[in-house]
Amino acid sequence: MANDHIDITVEPGEVHALLGENGAGKSTLMNQLYGLLQPDEGEILVDGEPKVFRSPRDAIAAGIGMVHQHFMLVPVFTVAENIALGAEEVRGGPLGWLDRRRNKRDVLETSQRYGLPVDPDALVENLPVGAQQRVEIVKALTRDVDLLILDEPTAVLTPQETDELLAVMRSLADTGKSIVFITHKLREVKAIADRITVIRRGRTVVPSNHPAAAPNRTKGSVSPDTPTDELAALMVGRDVSLEVEKTPAEPGREVLKVSGLIVDDDRGVRAVDHVDLVVRSGEVLGIAGVQGNGQTELVEAIMGLREARAGAIELEEKSLTGRTTKQVLRAGVGYVPEDRSLDGVVKDFTVAENLVLDLYDRAPFGNSFALNPKAIAESARERVSQFDIRTPSSQSTVGTLSGGNQQKVVVAREMSRPLKLLIAAQPTRGVDVGSIEFIHNQIIHERDVGTAVLVVSSELDEVVGLADRIAVMYRGRILAIVSPDMPREEIGLLMAGVVTQEAEDTE
Ligand SMILES: Nc1ncnc2c1ncn2[C@@H]1O[C@H](COP(=O)(O)OP(=O)(O)OP(=O)(O)O)[C@@H](O)[C@H]1O
Ligand SMILES: [Mg+2]
Repeated sequence: MANDHIDITVEPGEVHALLGENGAGKSTLMNQLYGLLQPDEGEILVDGEPKVFRSPRDAIAAGIGMVHQHFMLVPVFTVAENIALGAEEVRGGPLGWLDRRRNKRDVLETSQRYGLPVDPDALVENLPVGAQQRVEIVKALTRDVDLLILDEPTAVLTPQETDELLAVMRSLADTGKSIVFITHKLREVKAIADRITVIRRGRTVVPSNHPAAAPNRTKGSVSPDTPTDELAALMVGRDVSLEVEKTPAEPGREVLKVSGLIVDDDRGVRAVDHVDLVVRSGEVLGIAGVQGNGQTELVEAIMGLREARAGAIELEEKSLTGRTTKQVLRAGVGYVPEDRSLDGVVKDFTVAENLVLDLYDRAPFGNSFALNPKAIAESARERVSQFDIRTPSSQSTVGTLSGGNQQKVVVAREMSRPLKLLIAAQPTRGVDVGSIEFIHNQIIHERDVGTAVLVVSSELDEVVGLADRIAVMYRGRILAIVSPDMPREEIGLLMAGVVTQEAEDTE
């Protein structure tokens, strides 16, 4: 049971945050409001009228729009085609043709009205994730909505894009629209929410007697003035440490050495520009930077997912250049990719199968001829409990798991074999506060047993919390290597490319 007698009321003109740990039932609840799933019991009222939504078409007709947690765009279509999809303007009767000019005009008009820049002619597959997210939002807004549901829209956005989106949400609410906003980032909740509903294991959490209970709250809602640590505790049902706890690093030998690395992006534009870096055993090197400054390409080059134009990559003095990704993994590298859907899981495989994607042809899981389902299932059960993966069973397909639980499958797999180097890109994307604490502790544990760790994150807090040294990346270059004790503002300036004279000389 994903939703167990949930009550939620959303008023006109409010931003209503929906919080809850991974698998709590947030997306399931919203999918019912959008007609993608039908409730077994209970009622949905719009303006006081009971409604039955058999499909999203019914929900759209009732003024409800939704931006999904995982993108629903067609990659080979243009932005305008994607936005038209499902509500095509047709000329020339029932056998007519798509009115592309009108379609494009509608897109531009919505985009300007809400200050969400999109290029109608761009192919979606060529857009960075932040831009794809804007397309999803523009798509929802072209259909006159009164209630807009945003399911983790900021998970893939940079802090600046997030701030822009929060401003758009505020201005929409000010015009009387209602917004349901799902996020795991409590900073965003504090910044924007008028009210909060917390759900846990399918039920609304009512903080009776709890100091978090707002005096004038309606049923099941919590005031945004609630302190962050109390919100976190309400979500996961226990106290959560929001700070990473660790002892000073004891760096040893050089494990990863990158020198003079040059890598191009998909468009042939230089993304990584003469990067040198070293990660030692027993330390965490964090890479800070605004997304899109070459971090992705750097990691992909190390992992053999992208060809380097020049330079050397060495793991314990052995060259990784020209190795396949499988060879890199087998050489003792763990890899948590930034995009779990693309590079982290096979959604149609079971949880158990996904947990052995790295070792399926090795004893005890199998050999070159066959798998050993018993060993695979047994190990899966252990991982599922150790990493608290919320799944009906280890035989469920990964695609049915909640977003954060899919992420935990990737982390569990990559951190379950002996490693020399761990590369974790956005390791806690879409993960709830409780699991963030757990994953951070695992990363520090990996460091403490002598693994070299490279962490890439667009969350500065995460980089500062985990890293022993921070490399700031800007336009494909490492601008500086700084201590995590450096004031945030100064790291922020470096991320924006503002460098001291000294750093400039080396450029
Ligand atoms: N189609 C399905 N088949 C089986 N189980 C499902 C299906 N859809 C959802 N579930 C289960 O329902 C529960 C709630 O999932 P849901 O996606 O609503 O969580 P969530 O609160 O959105 O979590 P997250 O923060 O990780 O996105 C999960 O345990 C999930 O595995
Ligand atoms: Mg969800």
